[in-house]
Amino acid sequence: TTDAGGGLRTPIVAVLGHVDHGKTSLLDKVRGSAVTSGEAGAITQHIGATAVPLATISDIAGRLVDPDDFDLPGLLFIDTPGHHSFSTLRSRGGALADIAVLVVDVNDGFQPQTLEAIDILKRTQTPFIVAANKVDTTPGWNPQPDTPIQQSLEAQSDRAEQTLNEKLYEIIGELSDNDFSADMYWRVQNFRGNIGVVPVSAETGEGVPDLLAVLMGLSQRYMKEEMSIDTTGPGAGTVLEVKEERGFGTTLDVVLYDGSIRTDDTVVVGAKNDPIVTEVRALLQPQPLAEIRTEKRFEKVDEVSAAAGVKIAAPDLDDALAGAPVRVVRDRSEAEVIEEVREELAEIEVDTAENGVVVKADTLGSLEAIANALEEAEIPIVRAEVGDVAPRDIAVASTADETKHEVILAFNVDVLPDARREANDRNIRLFEDDVIYQLINEYEEFVEEMER
Ligand code: GTP
Ligand code: MG
Repeated sequence: TTDAGGGLRTPIVAVLGHVDHGKTSLLDKVRGSAVTSGEAGAITQHIGATAVPLATISDIAGRLVDPDDFDLPGLLFIDTPGHHSFSTLRSRGGALADIAVLVVDVNDGFQPQTLEAIDILKRTQTPFIVAANKVDTTPGWNPQPDTPIQQSLEAQSDRAEQTLNEKLYEIIGELSDNDFSADMYWRVQNFRGNIGVVPVSAETGEGVPDLLAVLMGLSQRYMKEEMSIDTTGPGAGTVLEVKEERGFGTTLDVVLYDGSIRTDDTVVVGAKNDPIVTEVRALLQPQPLAEIRTEKRFEKVDEVSAAAGVKIAAPDLDDALAGAPVRVVRDRSEAEVIEEVREELAEIEVDTAENGVVVKADTLGSLEAIANALEEAEIPIVRAEVGDVAPRDIAVASTADETKHEVILAFNVDVLPDARREANDRNIRLFEDDVIYQLINEYEEFVEEMER
């Protein structure tokens, strides 16, 4: 993805969906590698990015993608672990992803995290398609490895096809319950107003050619303007993760969505307090078709252009925040760029009230998503922060005005042992969950129970 600038940048595709519905497996199939088998418990631990060049897409998609029809360099896939809020993937107040694939297990249908993803897609107005995964589990299925789905359907018995259709129409029905008009992708004329459903199997590869073809078509047709950027200007990106890396200290996993970043650049990064201003020490990029979170032997590069996943090694990154903006200074004034980052952070900042609940979350994006959900539920927030639950959070909660506010809502973070002990001593209720609306439901049930 390091091209000469001008031209079209690589579209960013977020892959999201409920736990175990097959996000990583689908990407594995595309990559032709088996990241899943190398993962602890096959559960994705971190967000990663994978660049798939046009040539590879065309290899997999066969006659469905003629590379001559496209001037996009390929697709950059971001895998979001099911336990991780997709809302982290943001840029300049909007969605980081240009398009998204919502993966739904045909047997399981819509689940809590499917709904959560749909909510965020709706709010950020991100175009998406649905990958109805695991079609190979249909009773009596006759696998047709790696073929386009309609060809595979022709090889199925009427009975198998009918069983699958029933499940697919359930998914279409659930989309419609969520205000999206949807149909099988081959019947969709206008992908702007309608959601295309692509039946796939990450196991057999059936429908994967279709999935790639639809994603390429969508990007090319509807997003050409957004893709035409100057890939040599000062870079802009979003922090996916702040991570300790042996030999490099604290590093940032970043998705660069605009411009470029070089090894001699000064960057400004959103942090817990004031934005961090630091010099890039090294840019580490995984090889194409490799996964940023499993690739151990990063390649040191001099420059990276959007869109790409890159690991930035630099001094003083300890206070950087997941979900925060990263900006390259280059030939601009440092003060101006710091102001830009401040403004963007302020946009994400949660309004707090004099009385309310304490909220802790793993990233700025998830904090914002929880704050939105709490506002809708008319639950006030007294303190909202990124980070593990610490004793000072308990101290804040214990000064609450009423019992229903003597609580902490913890999303996808740890509770420090001291904090847990103190919560126990001071009778502070801890609510812990990794699905936003379940977290809020649990709290609401507690309040109802209490007020009964
Ligand atoms: P999280 O990252 O934990 O949210 O899960 P995920 O969505 O990435 O799911 P993953 O790819 O890890 O797949 C979960 C399980 O479903 C694994 O055991 C896969 O082998 C299985 N699986 C995924 N896709 C298919 C499919 O198309 N067919 C069948 N039969 N099994 C599948
Ligand atoms: Mg996964």
